[in-house]
Amino acid sequence: MTRDDVLAFPDGFLWGTATASYQIEGAVREGGRGESIWDRFSHTPGRVRNGDTGDVACDHYHRWRDDVALMGELGVNAYRFSLAWPRLMPDGSGALSVAGLDFYSRLIDELLATGIVPWVTLYHWDLPQVLEDAGGWPARDTAARFAEYAVAVHEALADRVERWTTLNEPWCSAFLGYASGHHAPGRTEPAAAVRAAHHLLLGHGLAVAAMRGHRPDQHFGITLNLYPVDPASADPADVDAARRVDGVCNRLFLDPVLRGRYPADVLGDLEPIAGSGLVGAGDEEVIGAPLDFLGVNYYSRHVVAASGDGARDPAWVGADDVVKLRTGRPVTAMGWEIDAPGLHEALLRVTQDYGGLPLYVTENGAAYADDVSPGGAVHDPARTAYLADHFRAAHRALADGVDLRGYFVWTLLDNFEWAWGYDRRFGLVHVDFATQERTVKDSGDWFGGVCATNAVAAAAPVP
Ligand code: FCB
Repeated sequence: MTRDDVLAFPDGFLWGTATASYQIEGAVREGGRGESIWDRFSHTPGRVRNGDTGDVACDHYHRWRDDVALMGELGVNAYRFSLAWPRLMPDGSGALSVAGLDFYSRLIDELLATGIVPWVTLYHWDLPQVLEDAGGWPARDTAARFAEYAVAVHEALADRVERWTTLNEPWCSAFLGYASGHHAPGRTEPAAAVRAAHHLLLGHGLAVAAMRGHRPDQHFGITLNLYPVDPASADPADVDAARRVDGVCNRLFLDPVLRGRYPADVLGDLEPIAGSGLVGAGDEEVIGAPLDFLGVNYYSRHVVAASGDGARDPAWVGADDVVKLRTGRPVTAMGWEIDAPGLHEALLRVTQDYGGLPLYVTENGAAYADDVSPGGAVHDPARTAYLADHFRAAHRALADGVDLRGYFVWTLLDNFEWAWGYDRRFGLVHVDFATQERTVKDSGDWFGGVCATNAVAAAAPVP
């Protein structure tokens, strides 16, 4: 290929894969690990498709060395993974578990030995059940417990880990966990969801300040799941519906984190639900602790209307009468519409509205029903096309001035996809859950080429 055929990314660009502890580790009763809200939830009949649980998942707790080798073969230069709080602090607070720390310590050493940057997410949804029993995220005390945990882990691992993400997608923890109940702990209390959102953010701010105090030279940030939100028409009712959905999904998190202030209109939408007095004096200042980067997870766009033929979403608190419309774009196996330009839009929006902070795409990827062919290969051209289109959109964002520093594909391995159990495959690597055999999919081989060349083909078709 000539240079004209490819879009090159900046030198030093990180190309990685992302995973989450509960989705891959298994070994839920080993090494003294405590119960998490996802153990309790997945073992509650009717909560997860097919009654699946993360008890074994990808057995990564035992196969981590092979999984790191697999990443070495793919050629990624970074790996974003999360730490299981209940593995490190089985009781939700107190001293770190020696076995838990050992597991992550060995994983980090192996990554470094393989030339892969370890990128830690402190919380990807597996709250210790004991803290949920004490009130969970709707209780203010959980923010303090999170900061304690973050500080302890950071002190133990900061000699080898330089990049720290506090929370993964606090919107999901708050609104899927406590409003729609689709995620653990499965509560359906909109007021509690709003309180949870505030306390997640408070925990984030407390953790960042404390970790930075210990190591001012390191990189601290948060990962948000952002969606462009379009009104279905210019009708003021639809425009207001879009404002409200954008408010509760995007700005409720972006504004306090990056501007140190909740958006007044969103507080206005939420106050009748959550009541007043939630945000204490000084809280916004804590939440707005300066960051070194923002992680953006991107999957799709929302097109919404004030009424009509579409799906309401109980997770859209303050906008729960709003309907989400289908636009007719092709969908992945999740039913999510494929919209690569939306990634460009989301990245540009953060840069334009919130300043030129370094950005990383910390998740993007697609589920498809993949099969191992009789010859032993997994042909998944749709996933390759999806990723290539999104990489090109990211490249356009760079050309438009976005300070994008890296891109993590969701995900390394087919895994426990939350309420969908093992029914949705997002991996670059296929996992046979009966045998735990790993098979690199065609998209994984293709992604290896992107990592090796730091470039993507300028135009479709891709292999
Ligand atoms: C994100 C989650 C991740 C995975 C993908 C598909 O919301 O962070 O764990 O489930 O969606």
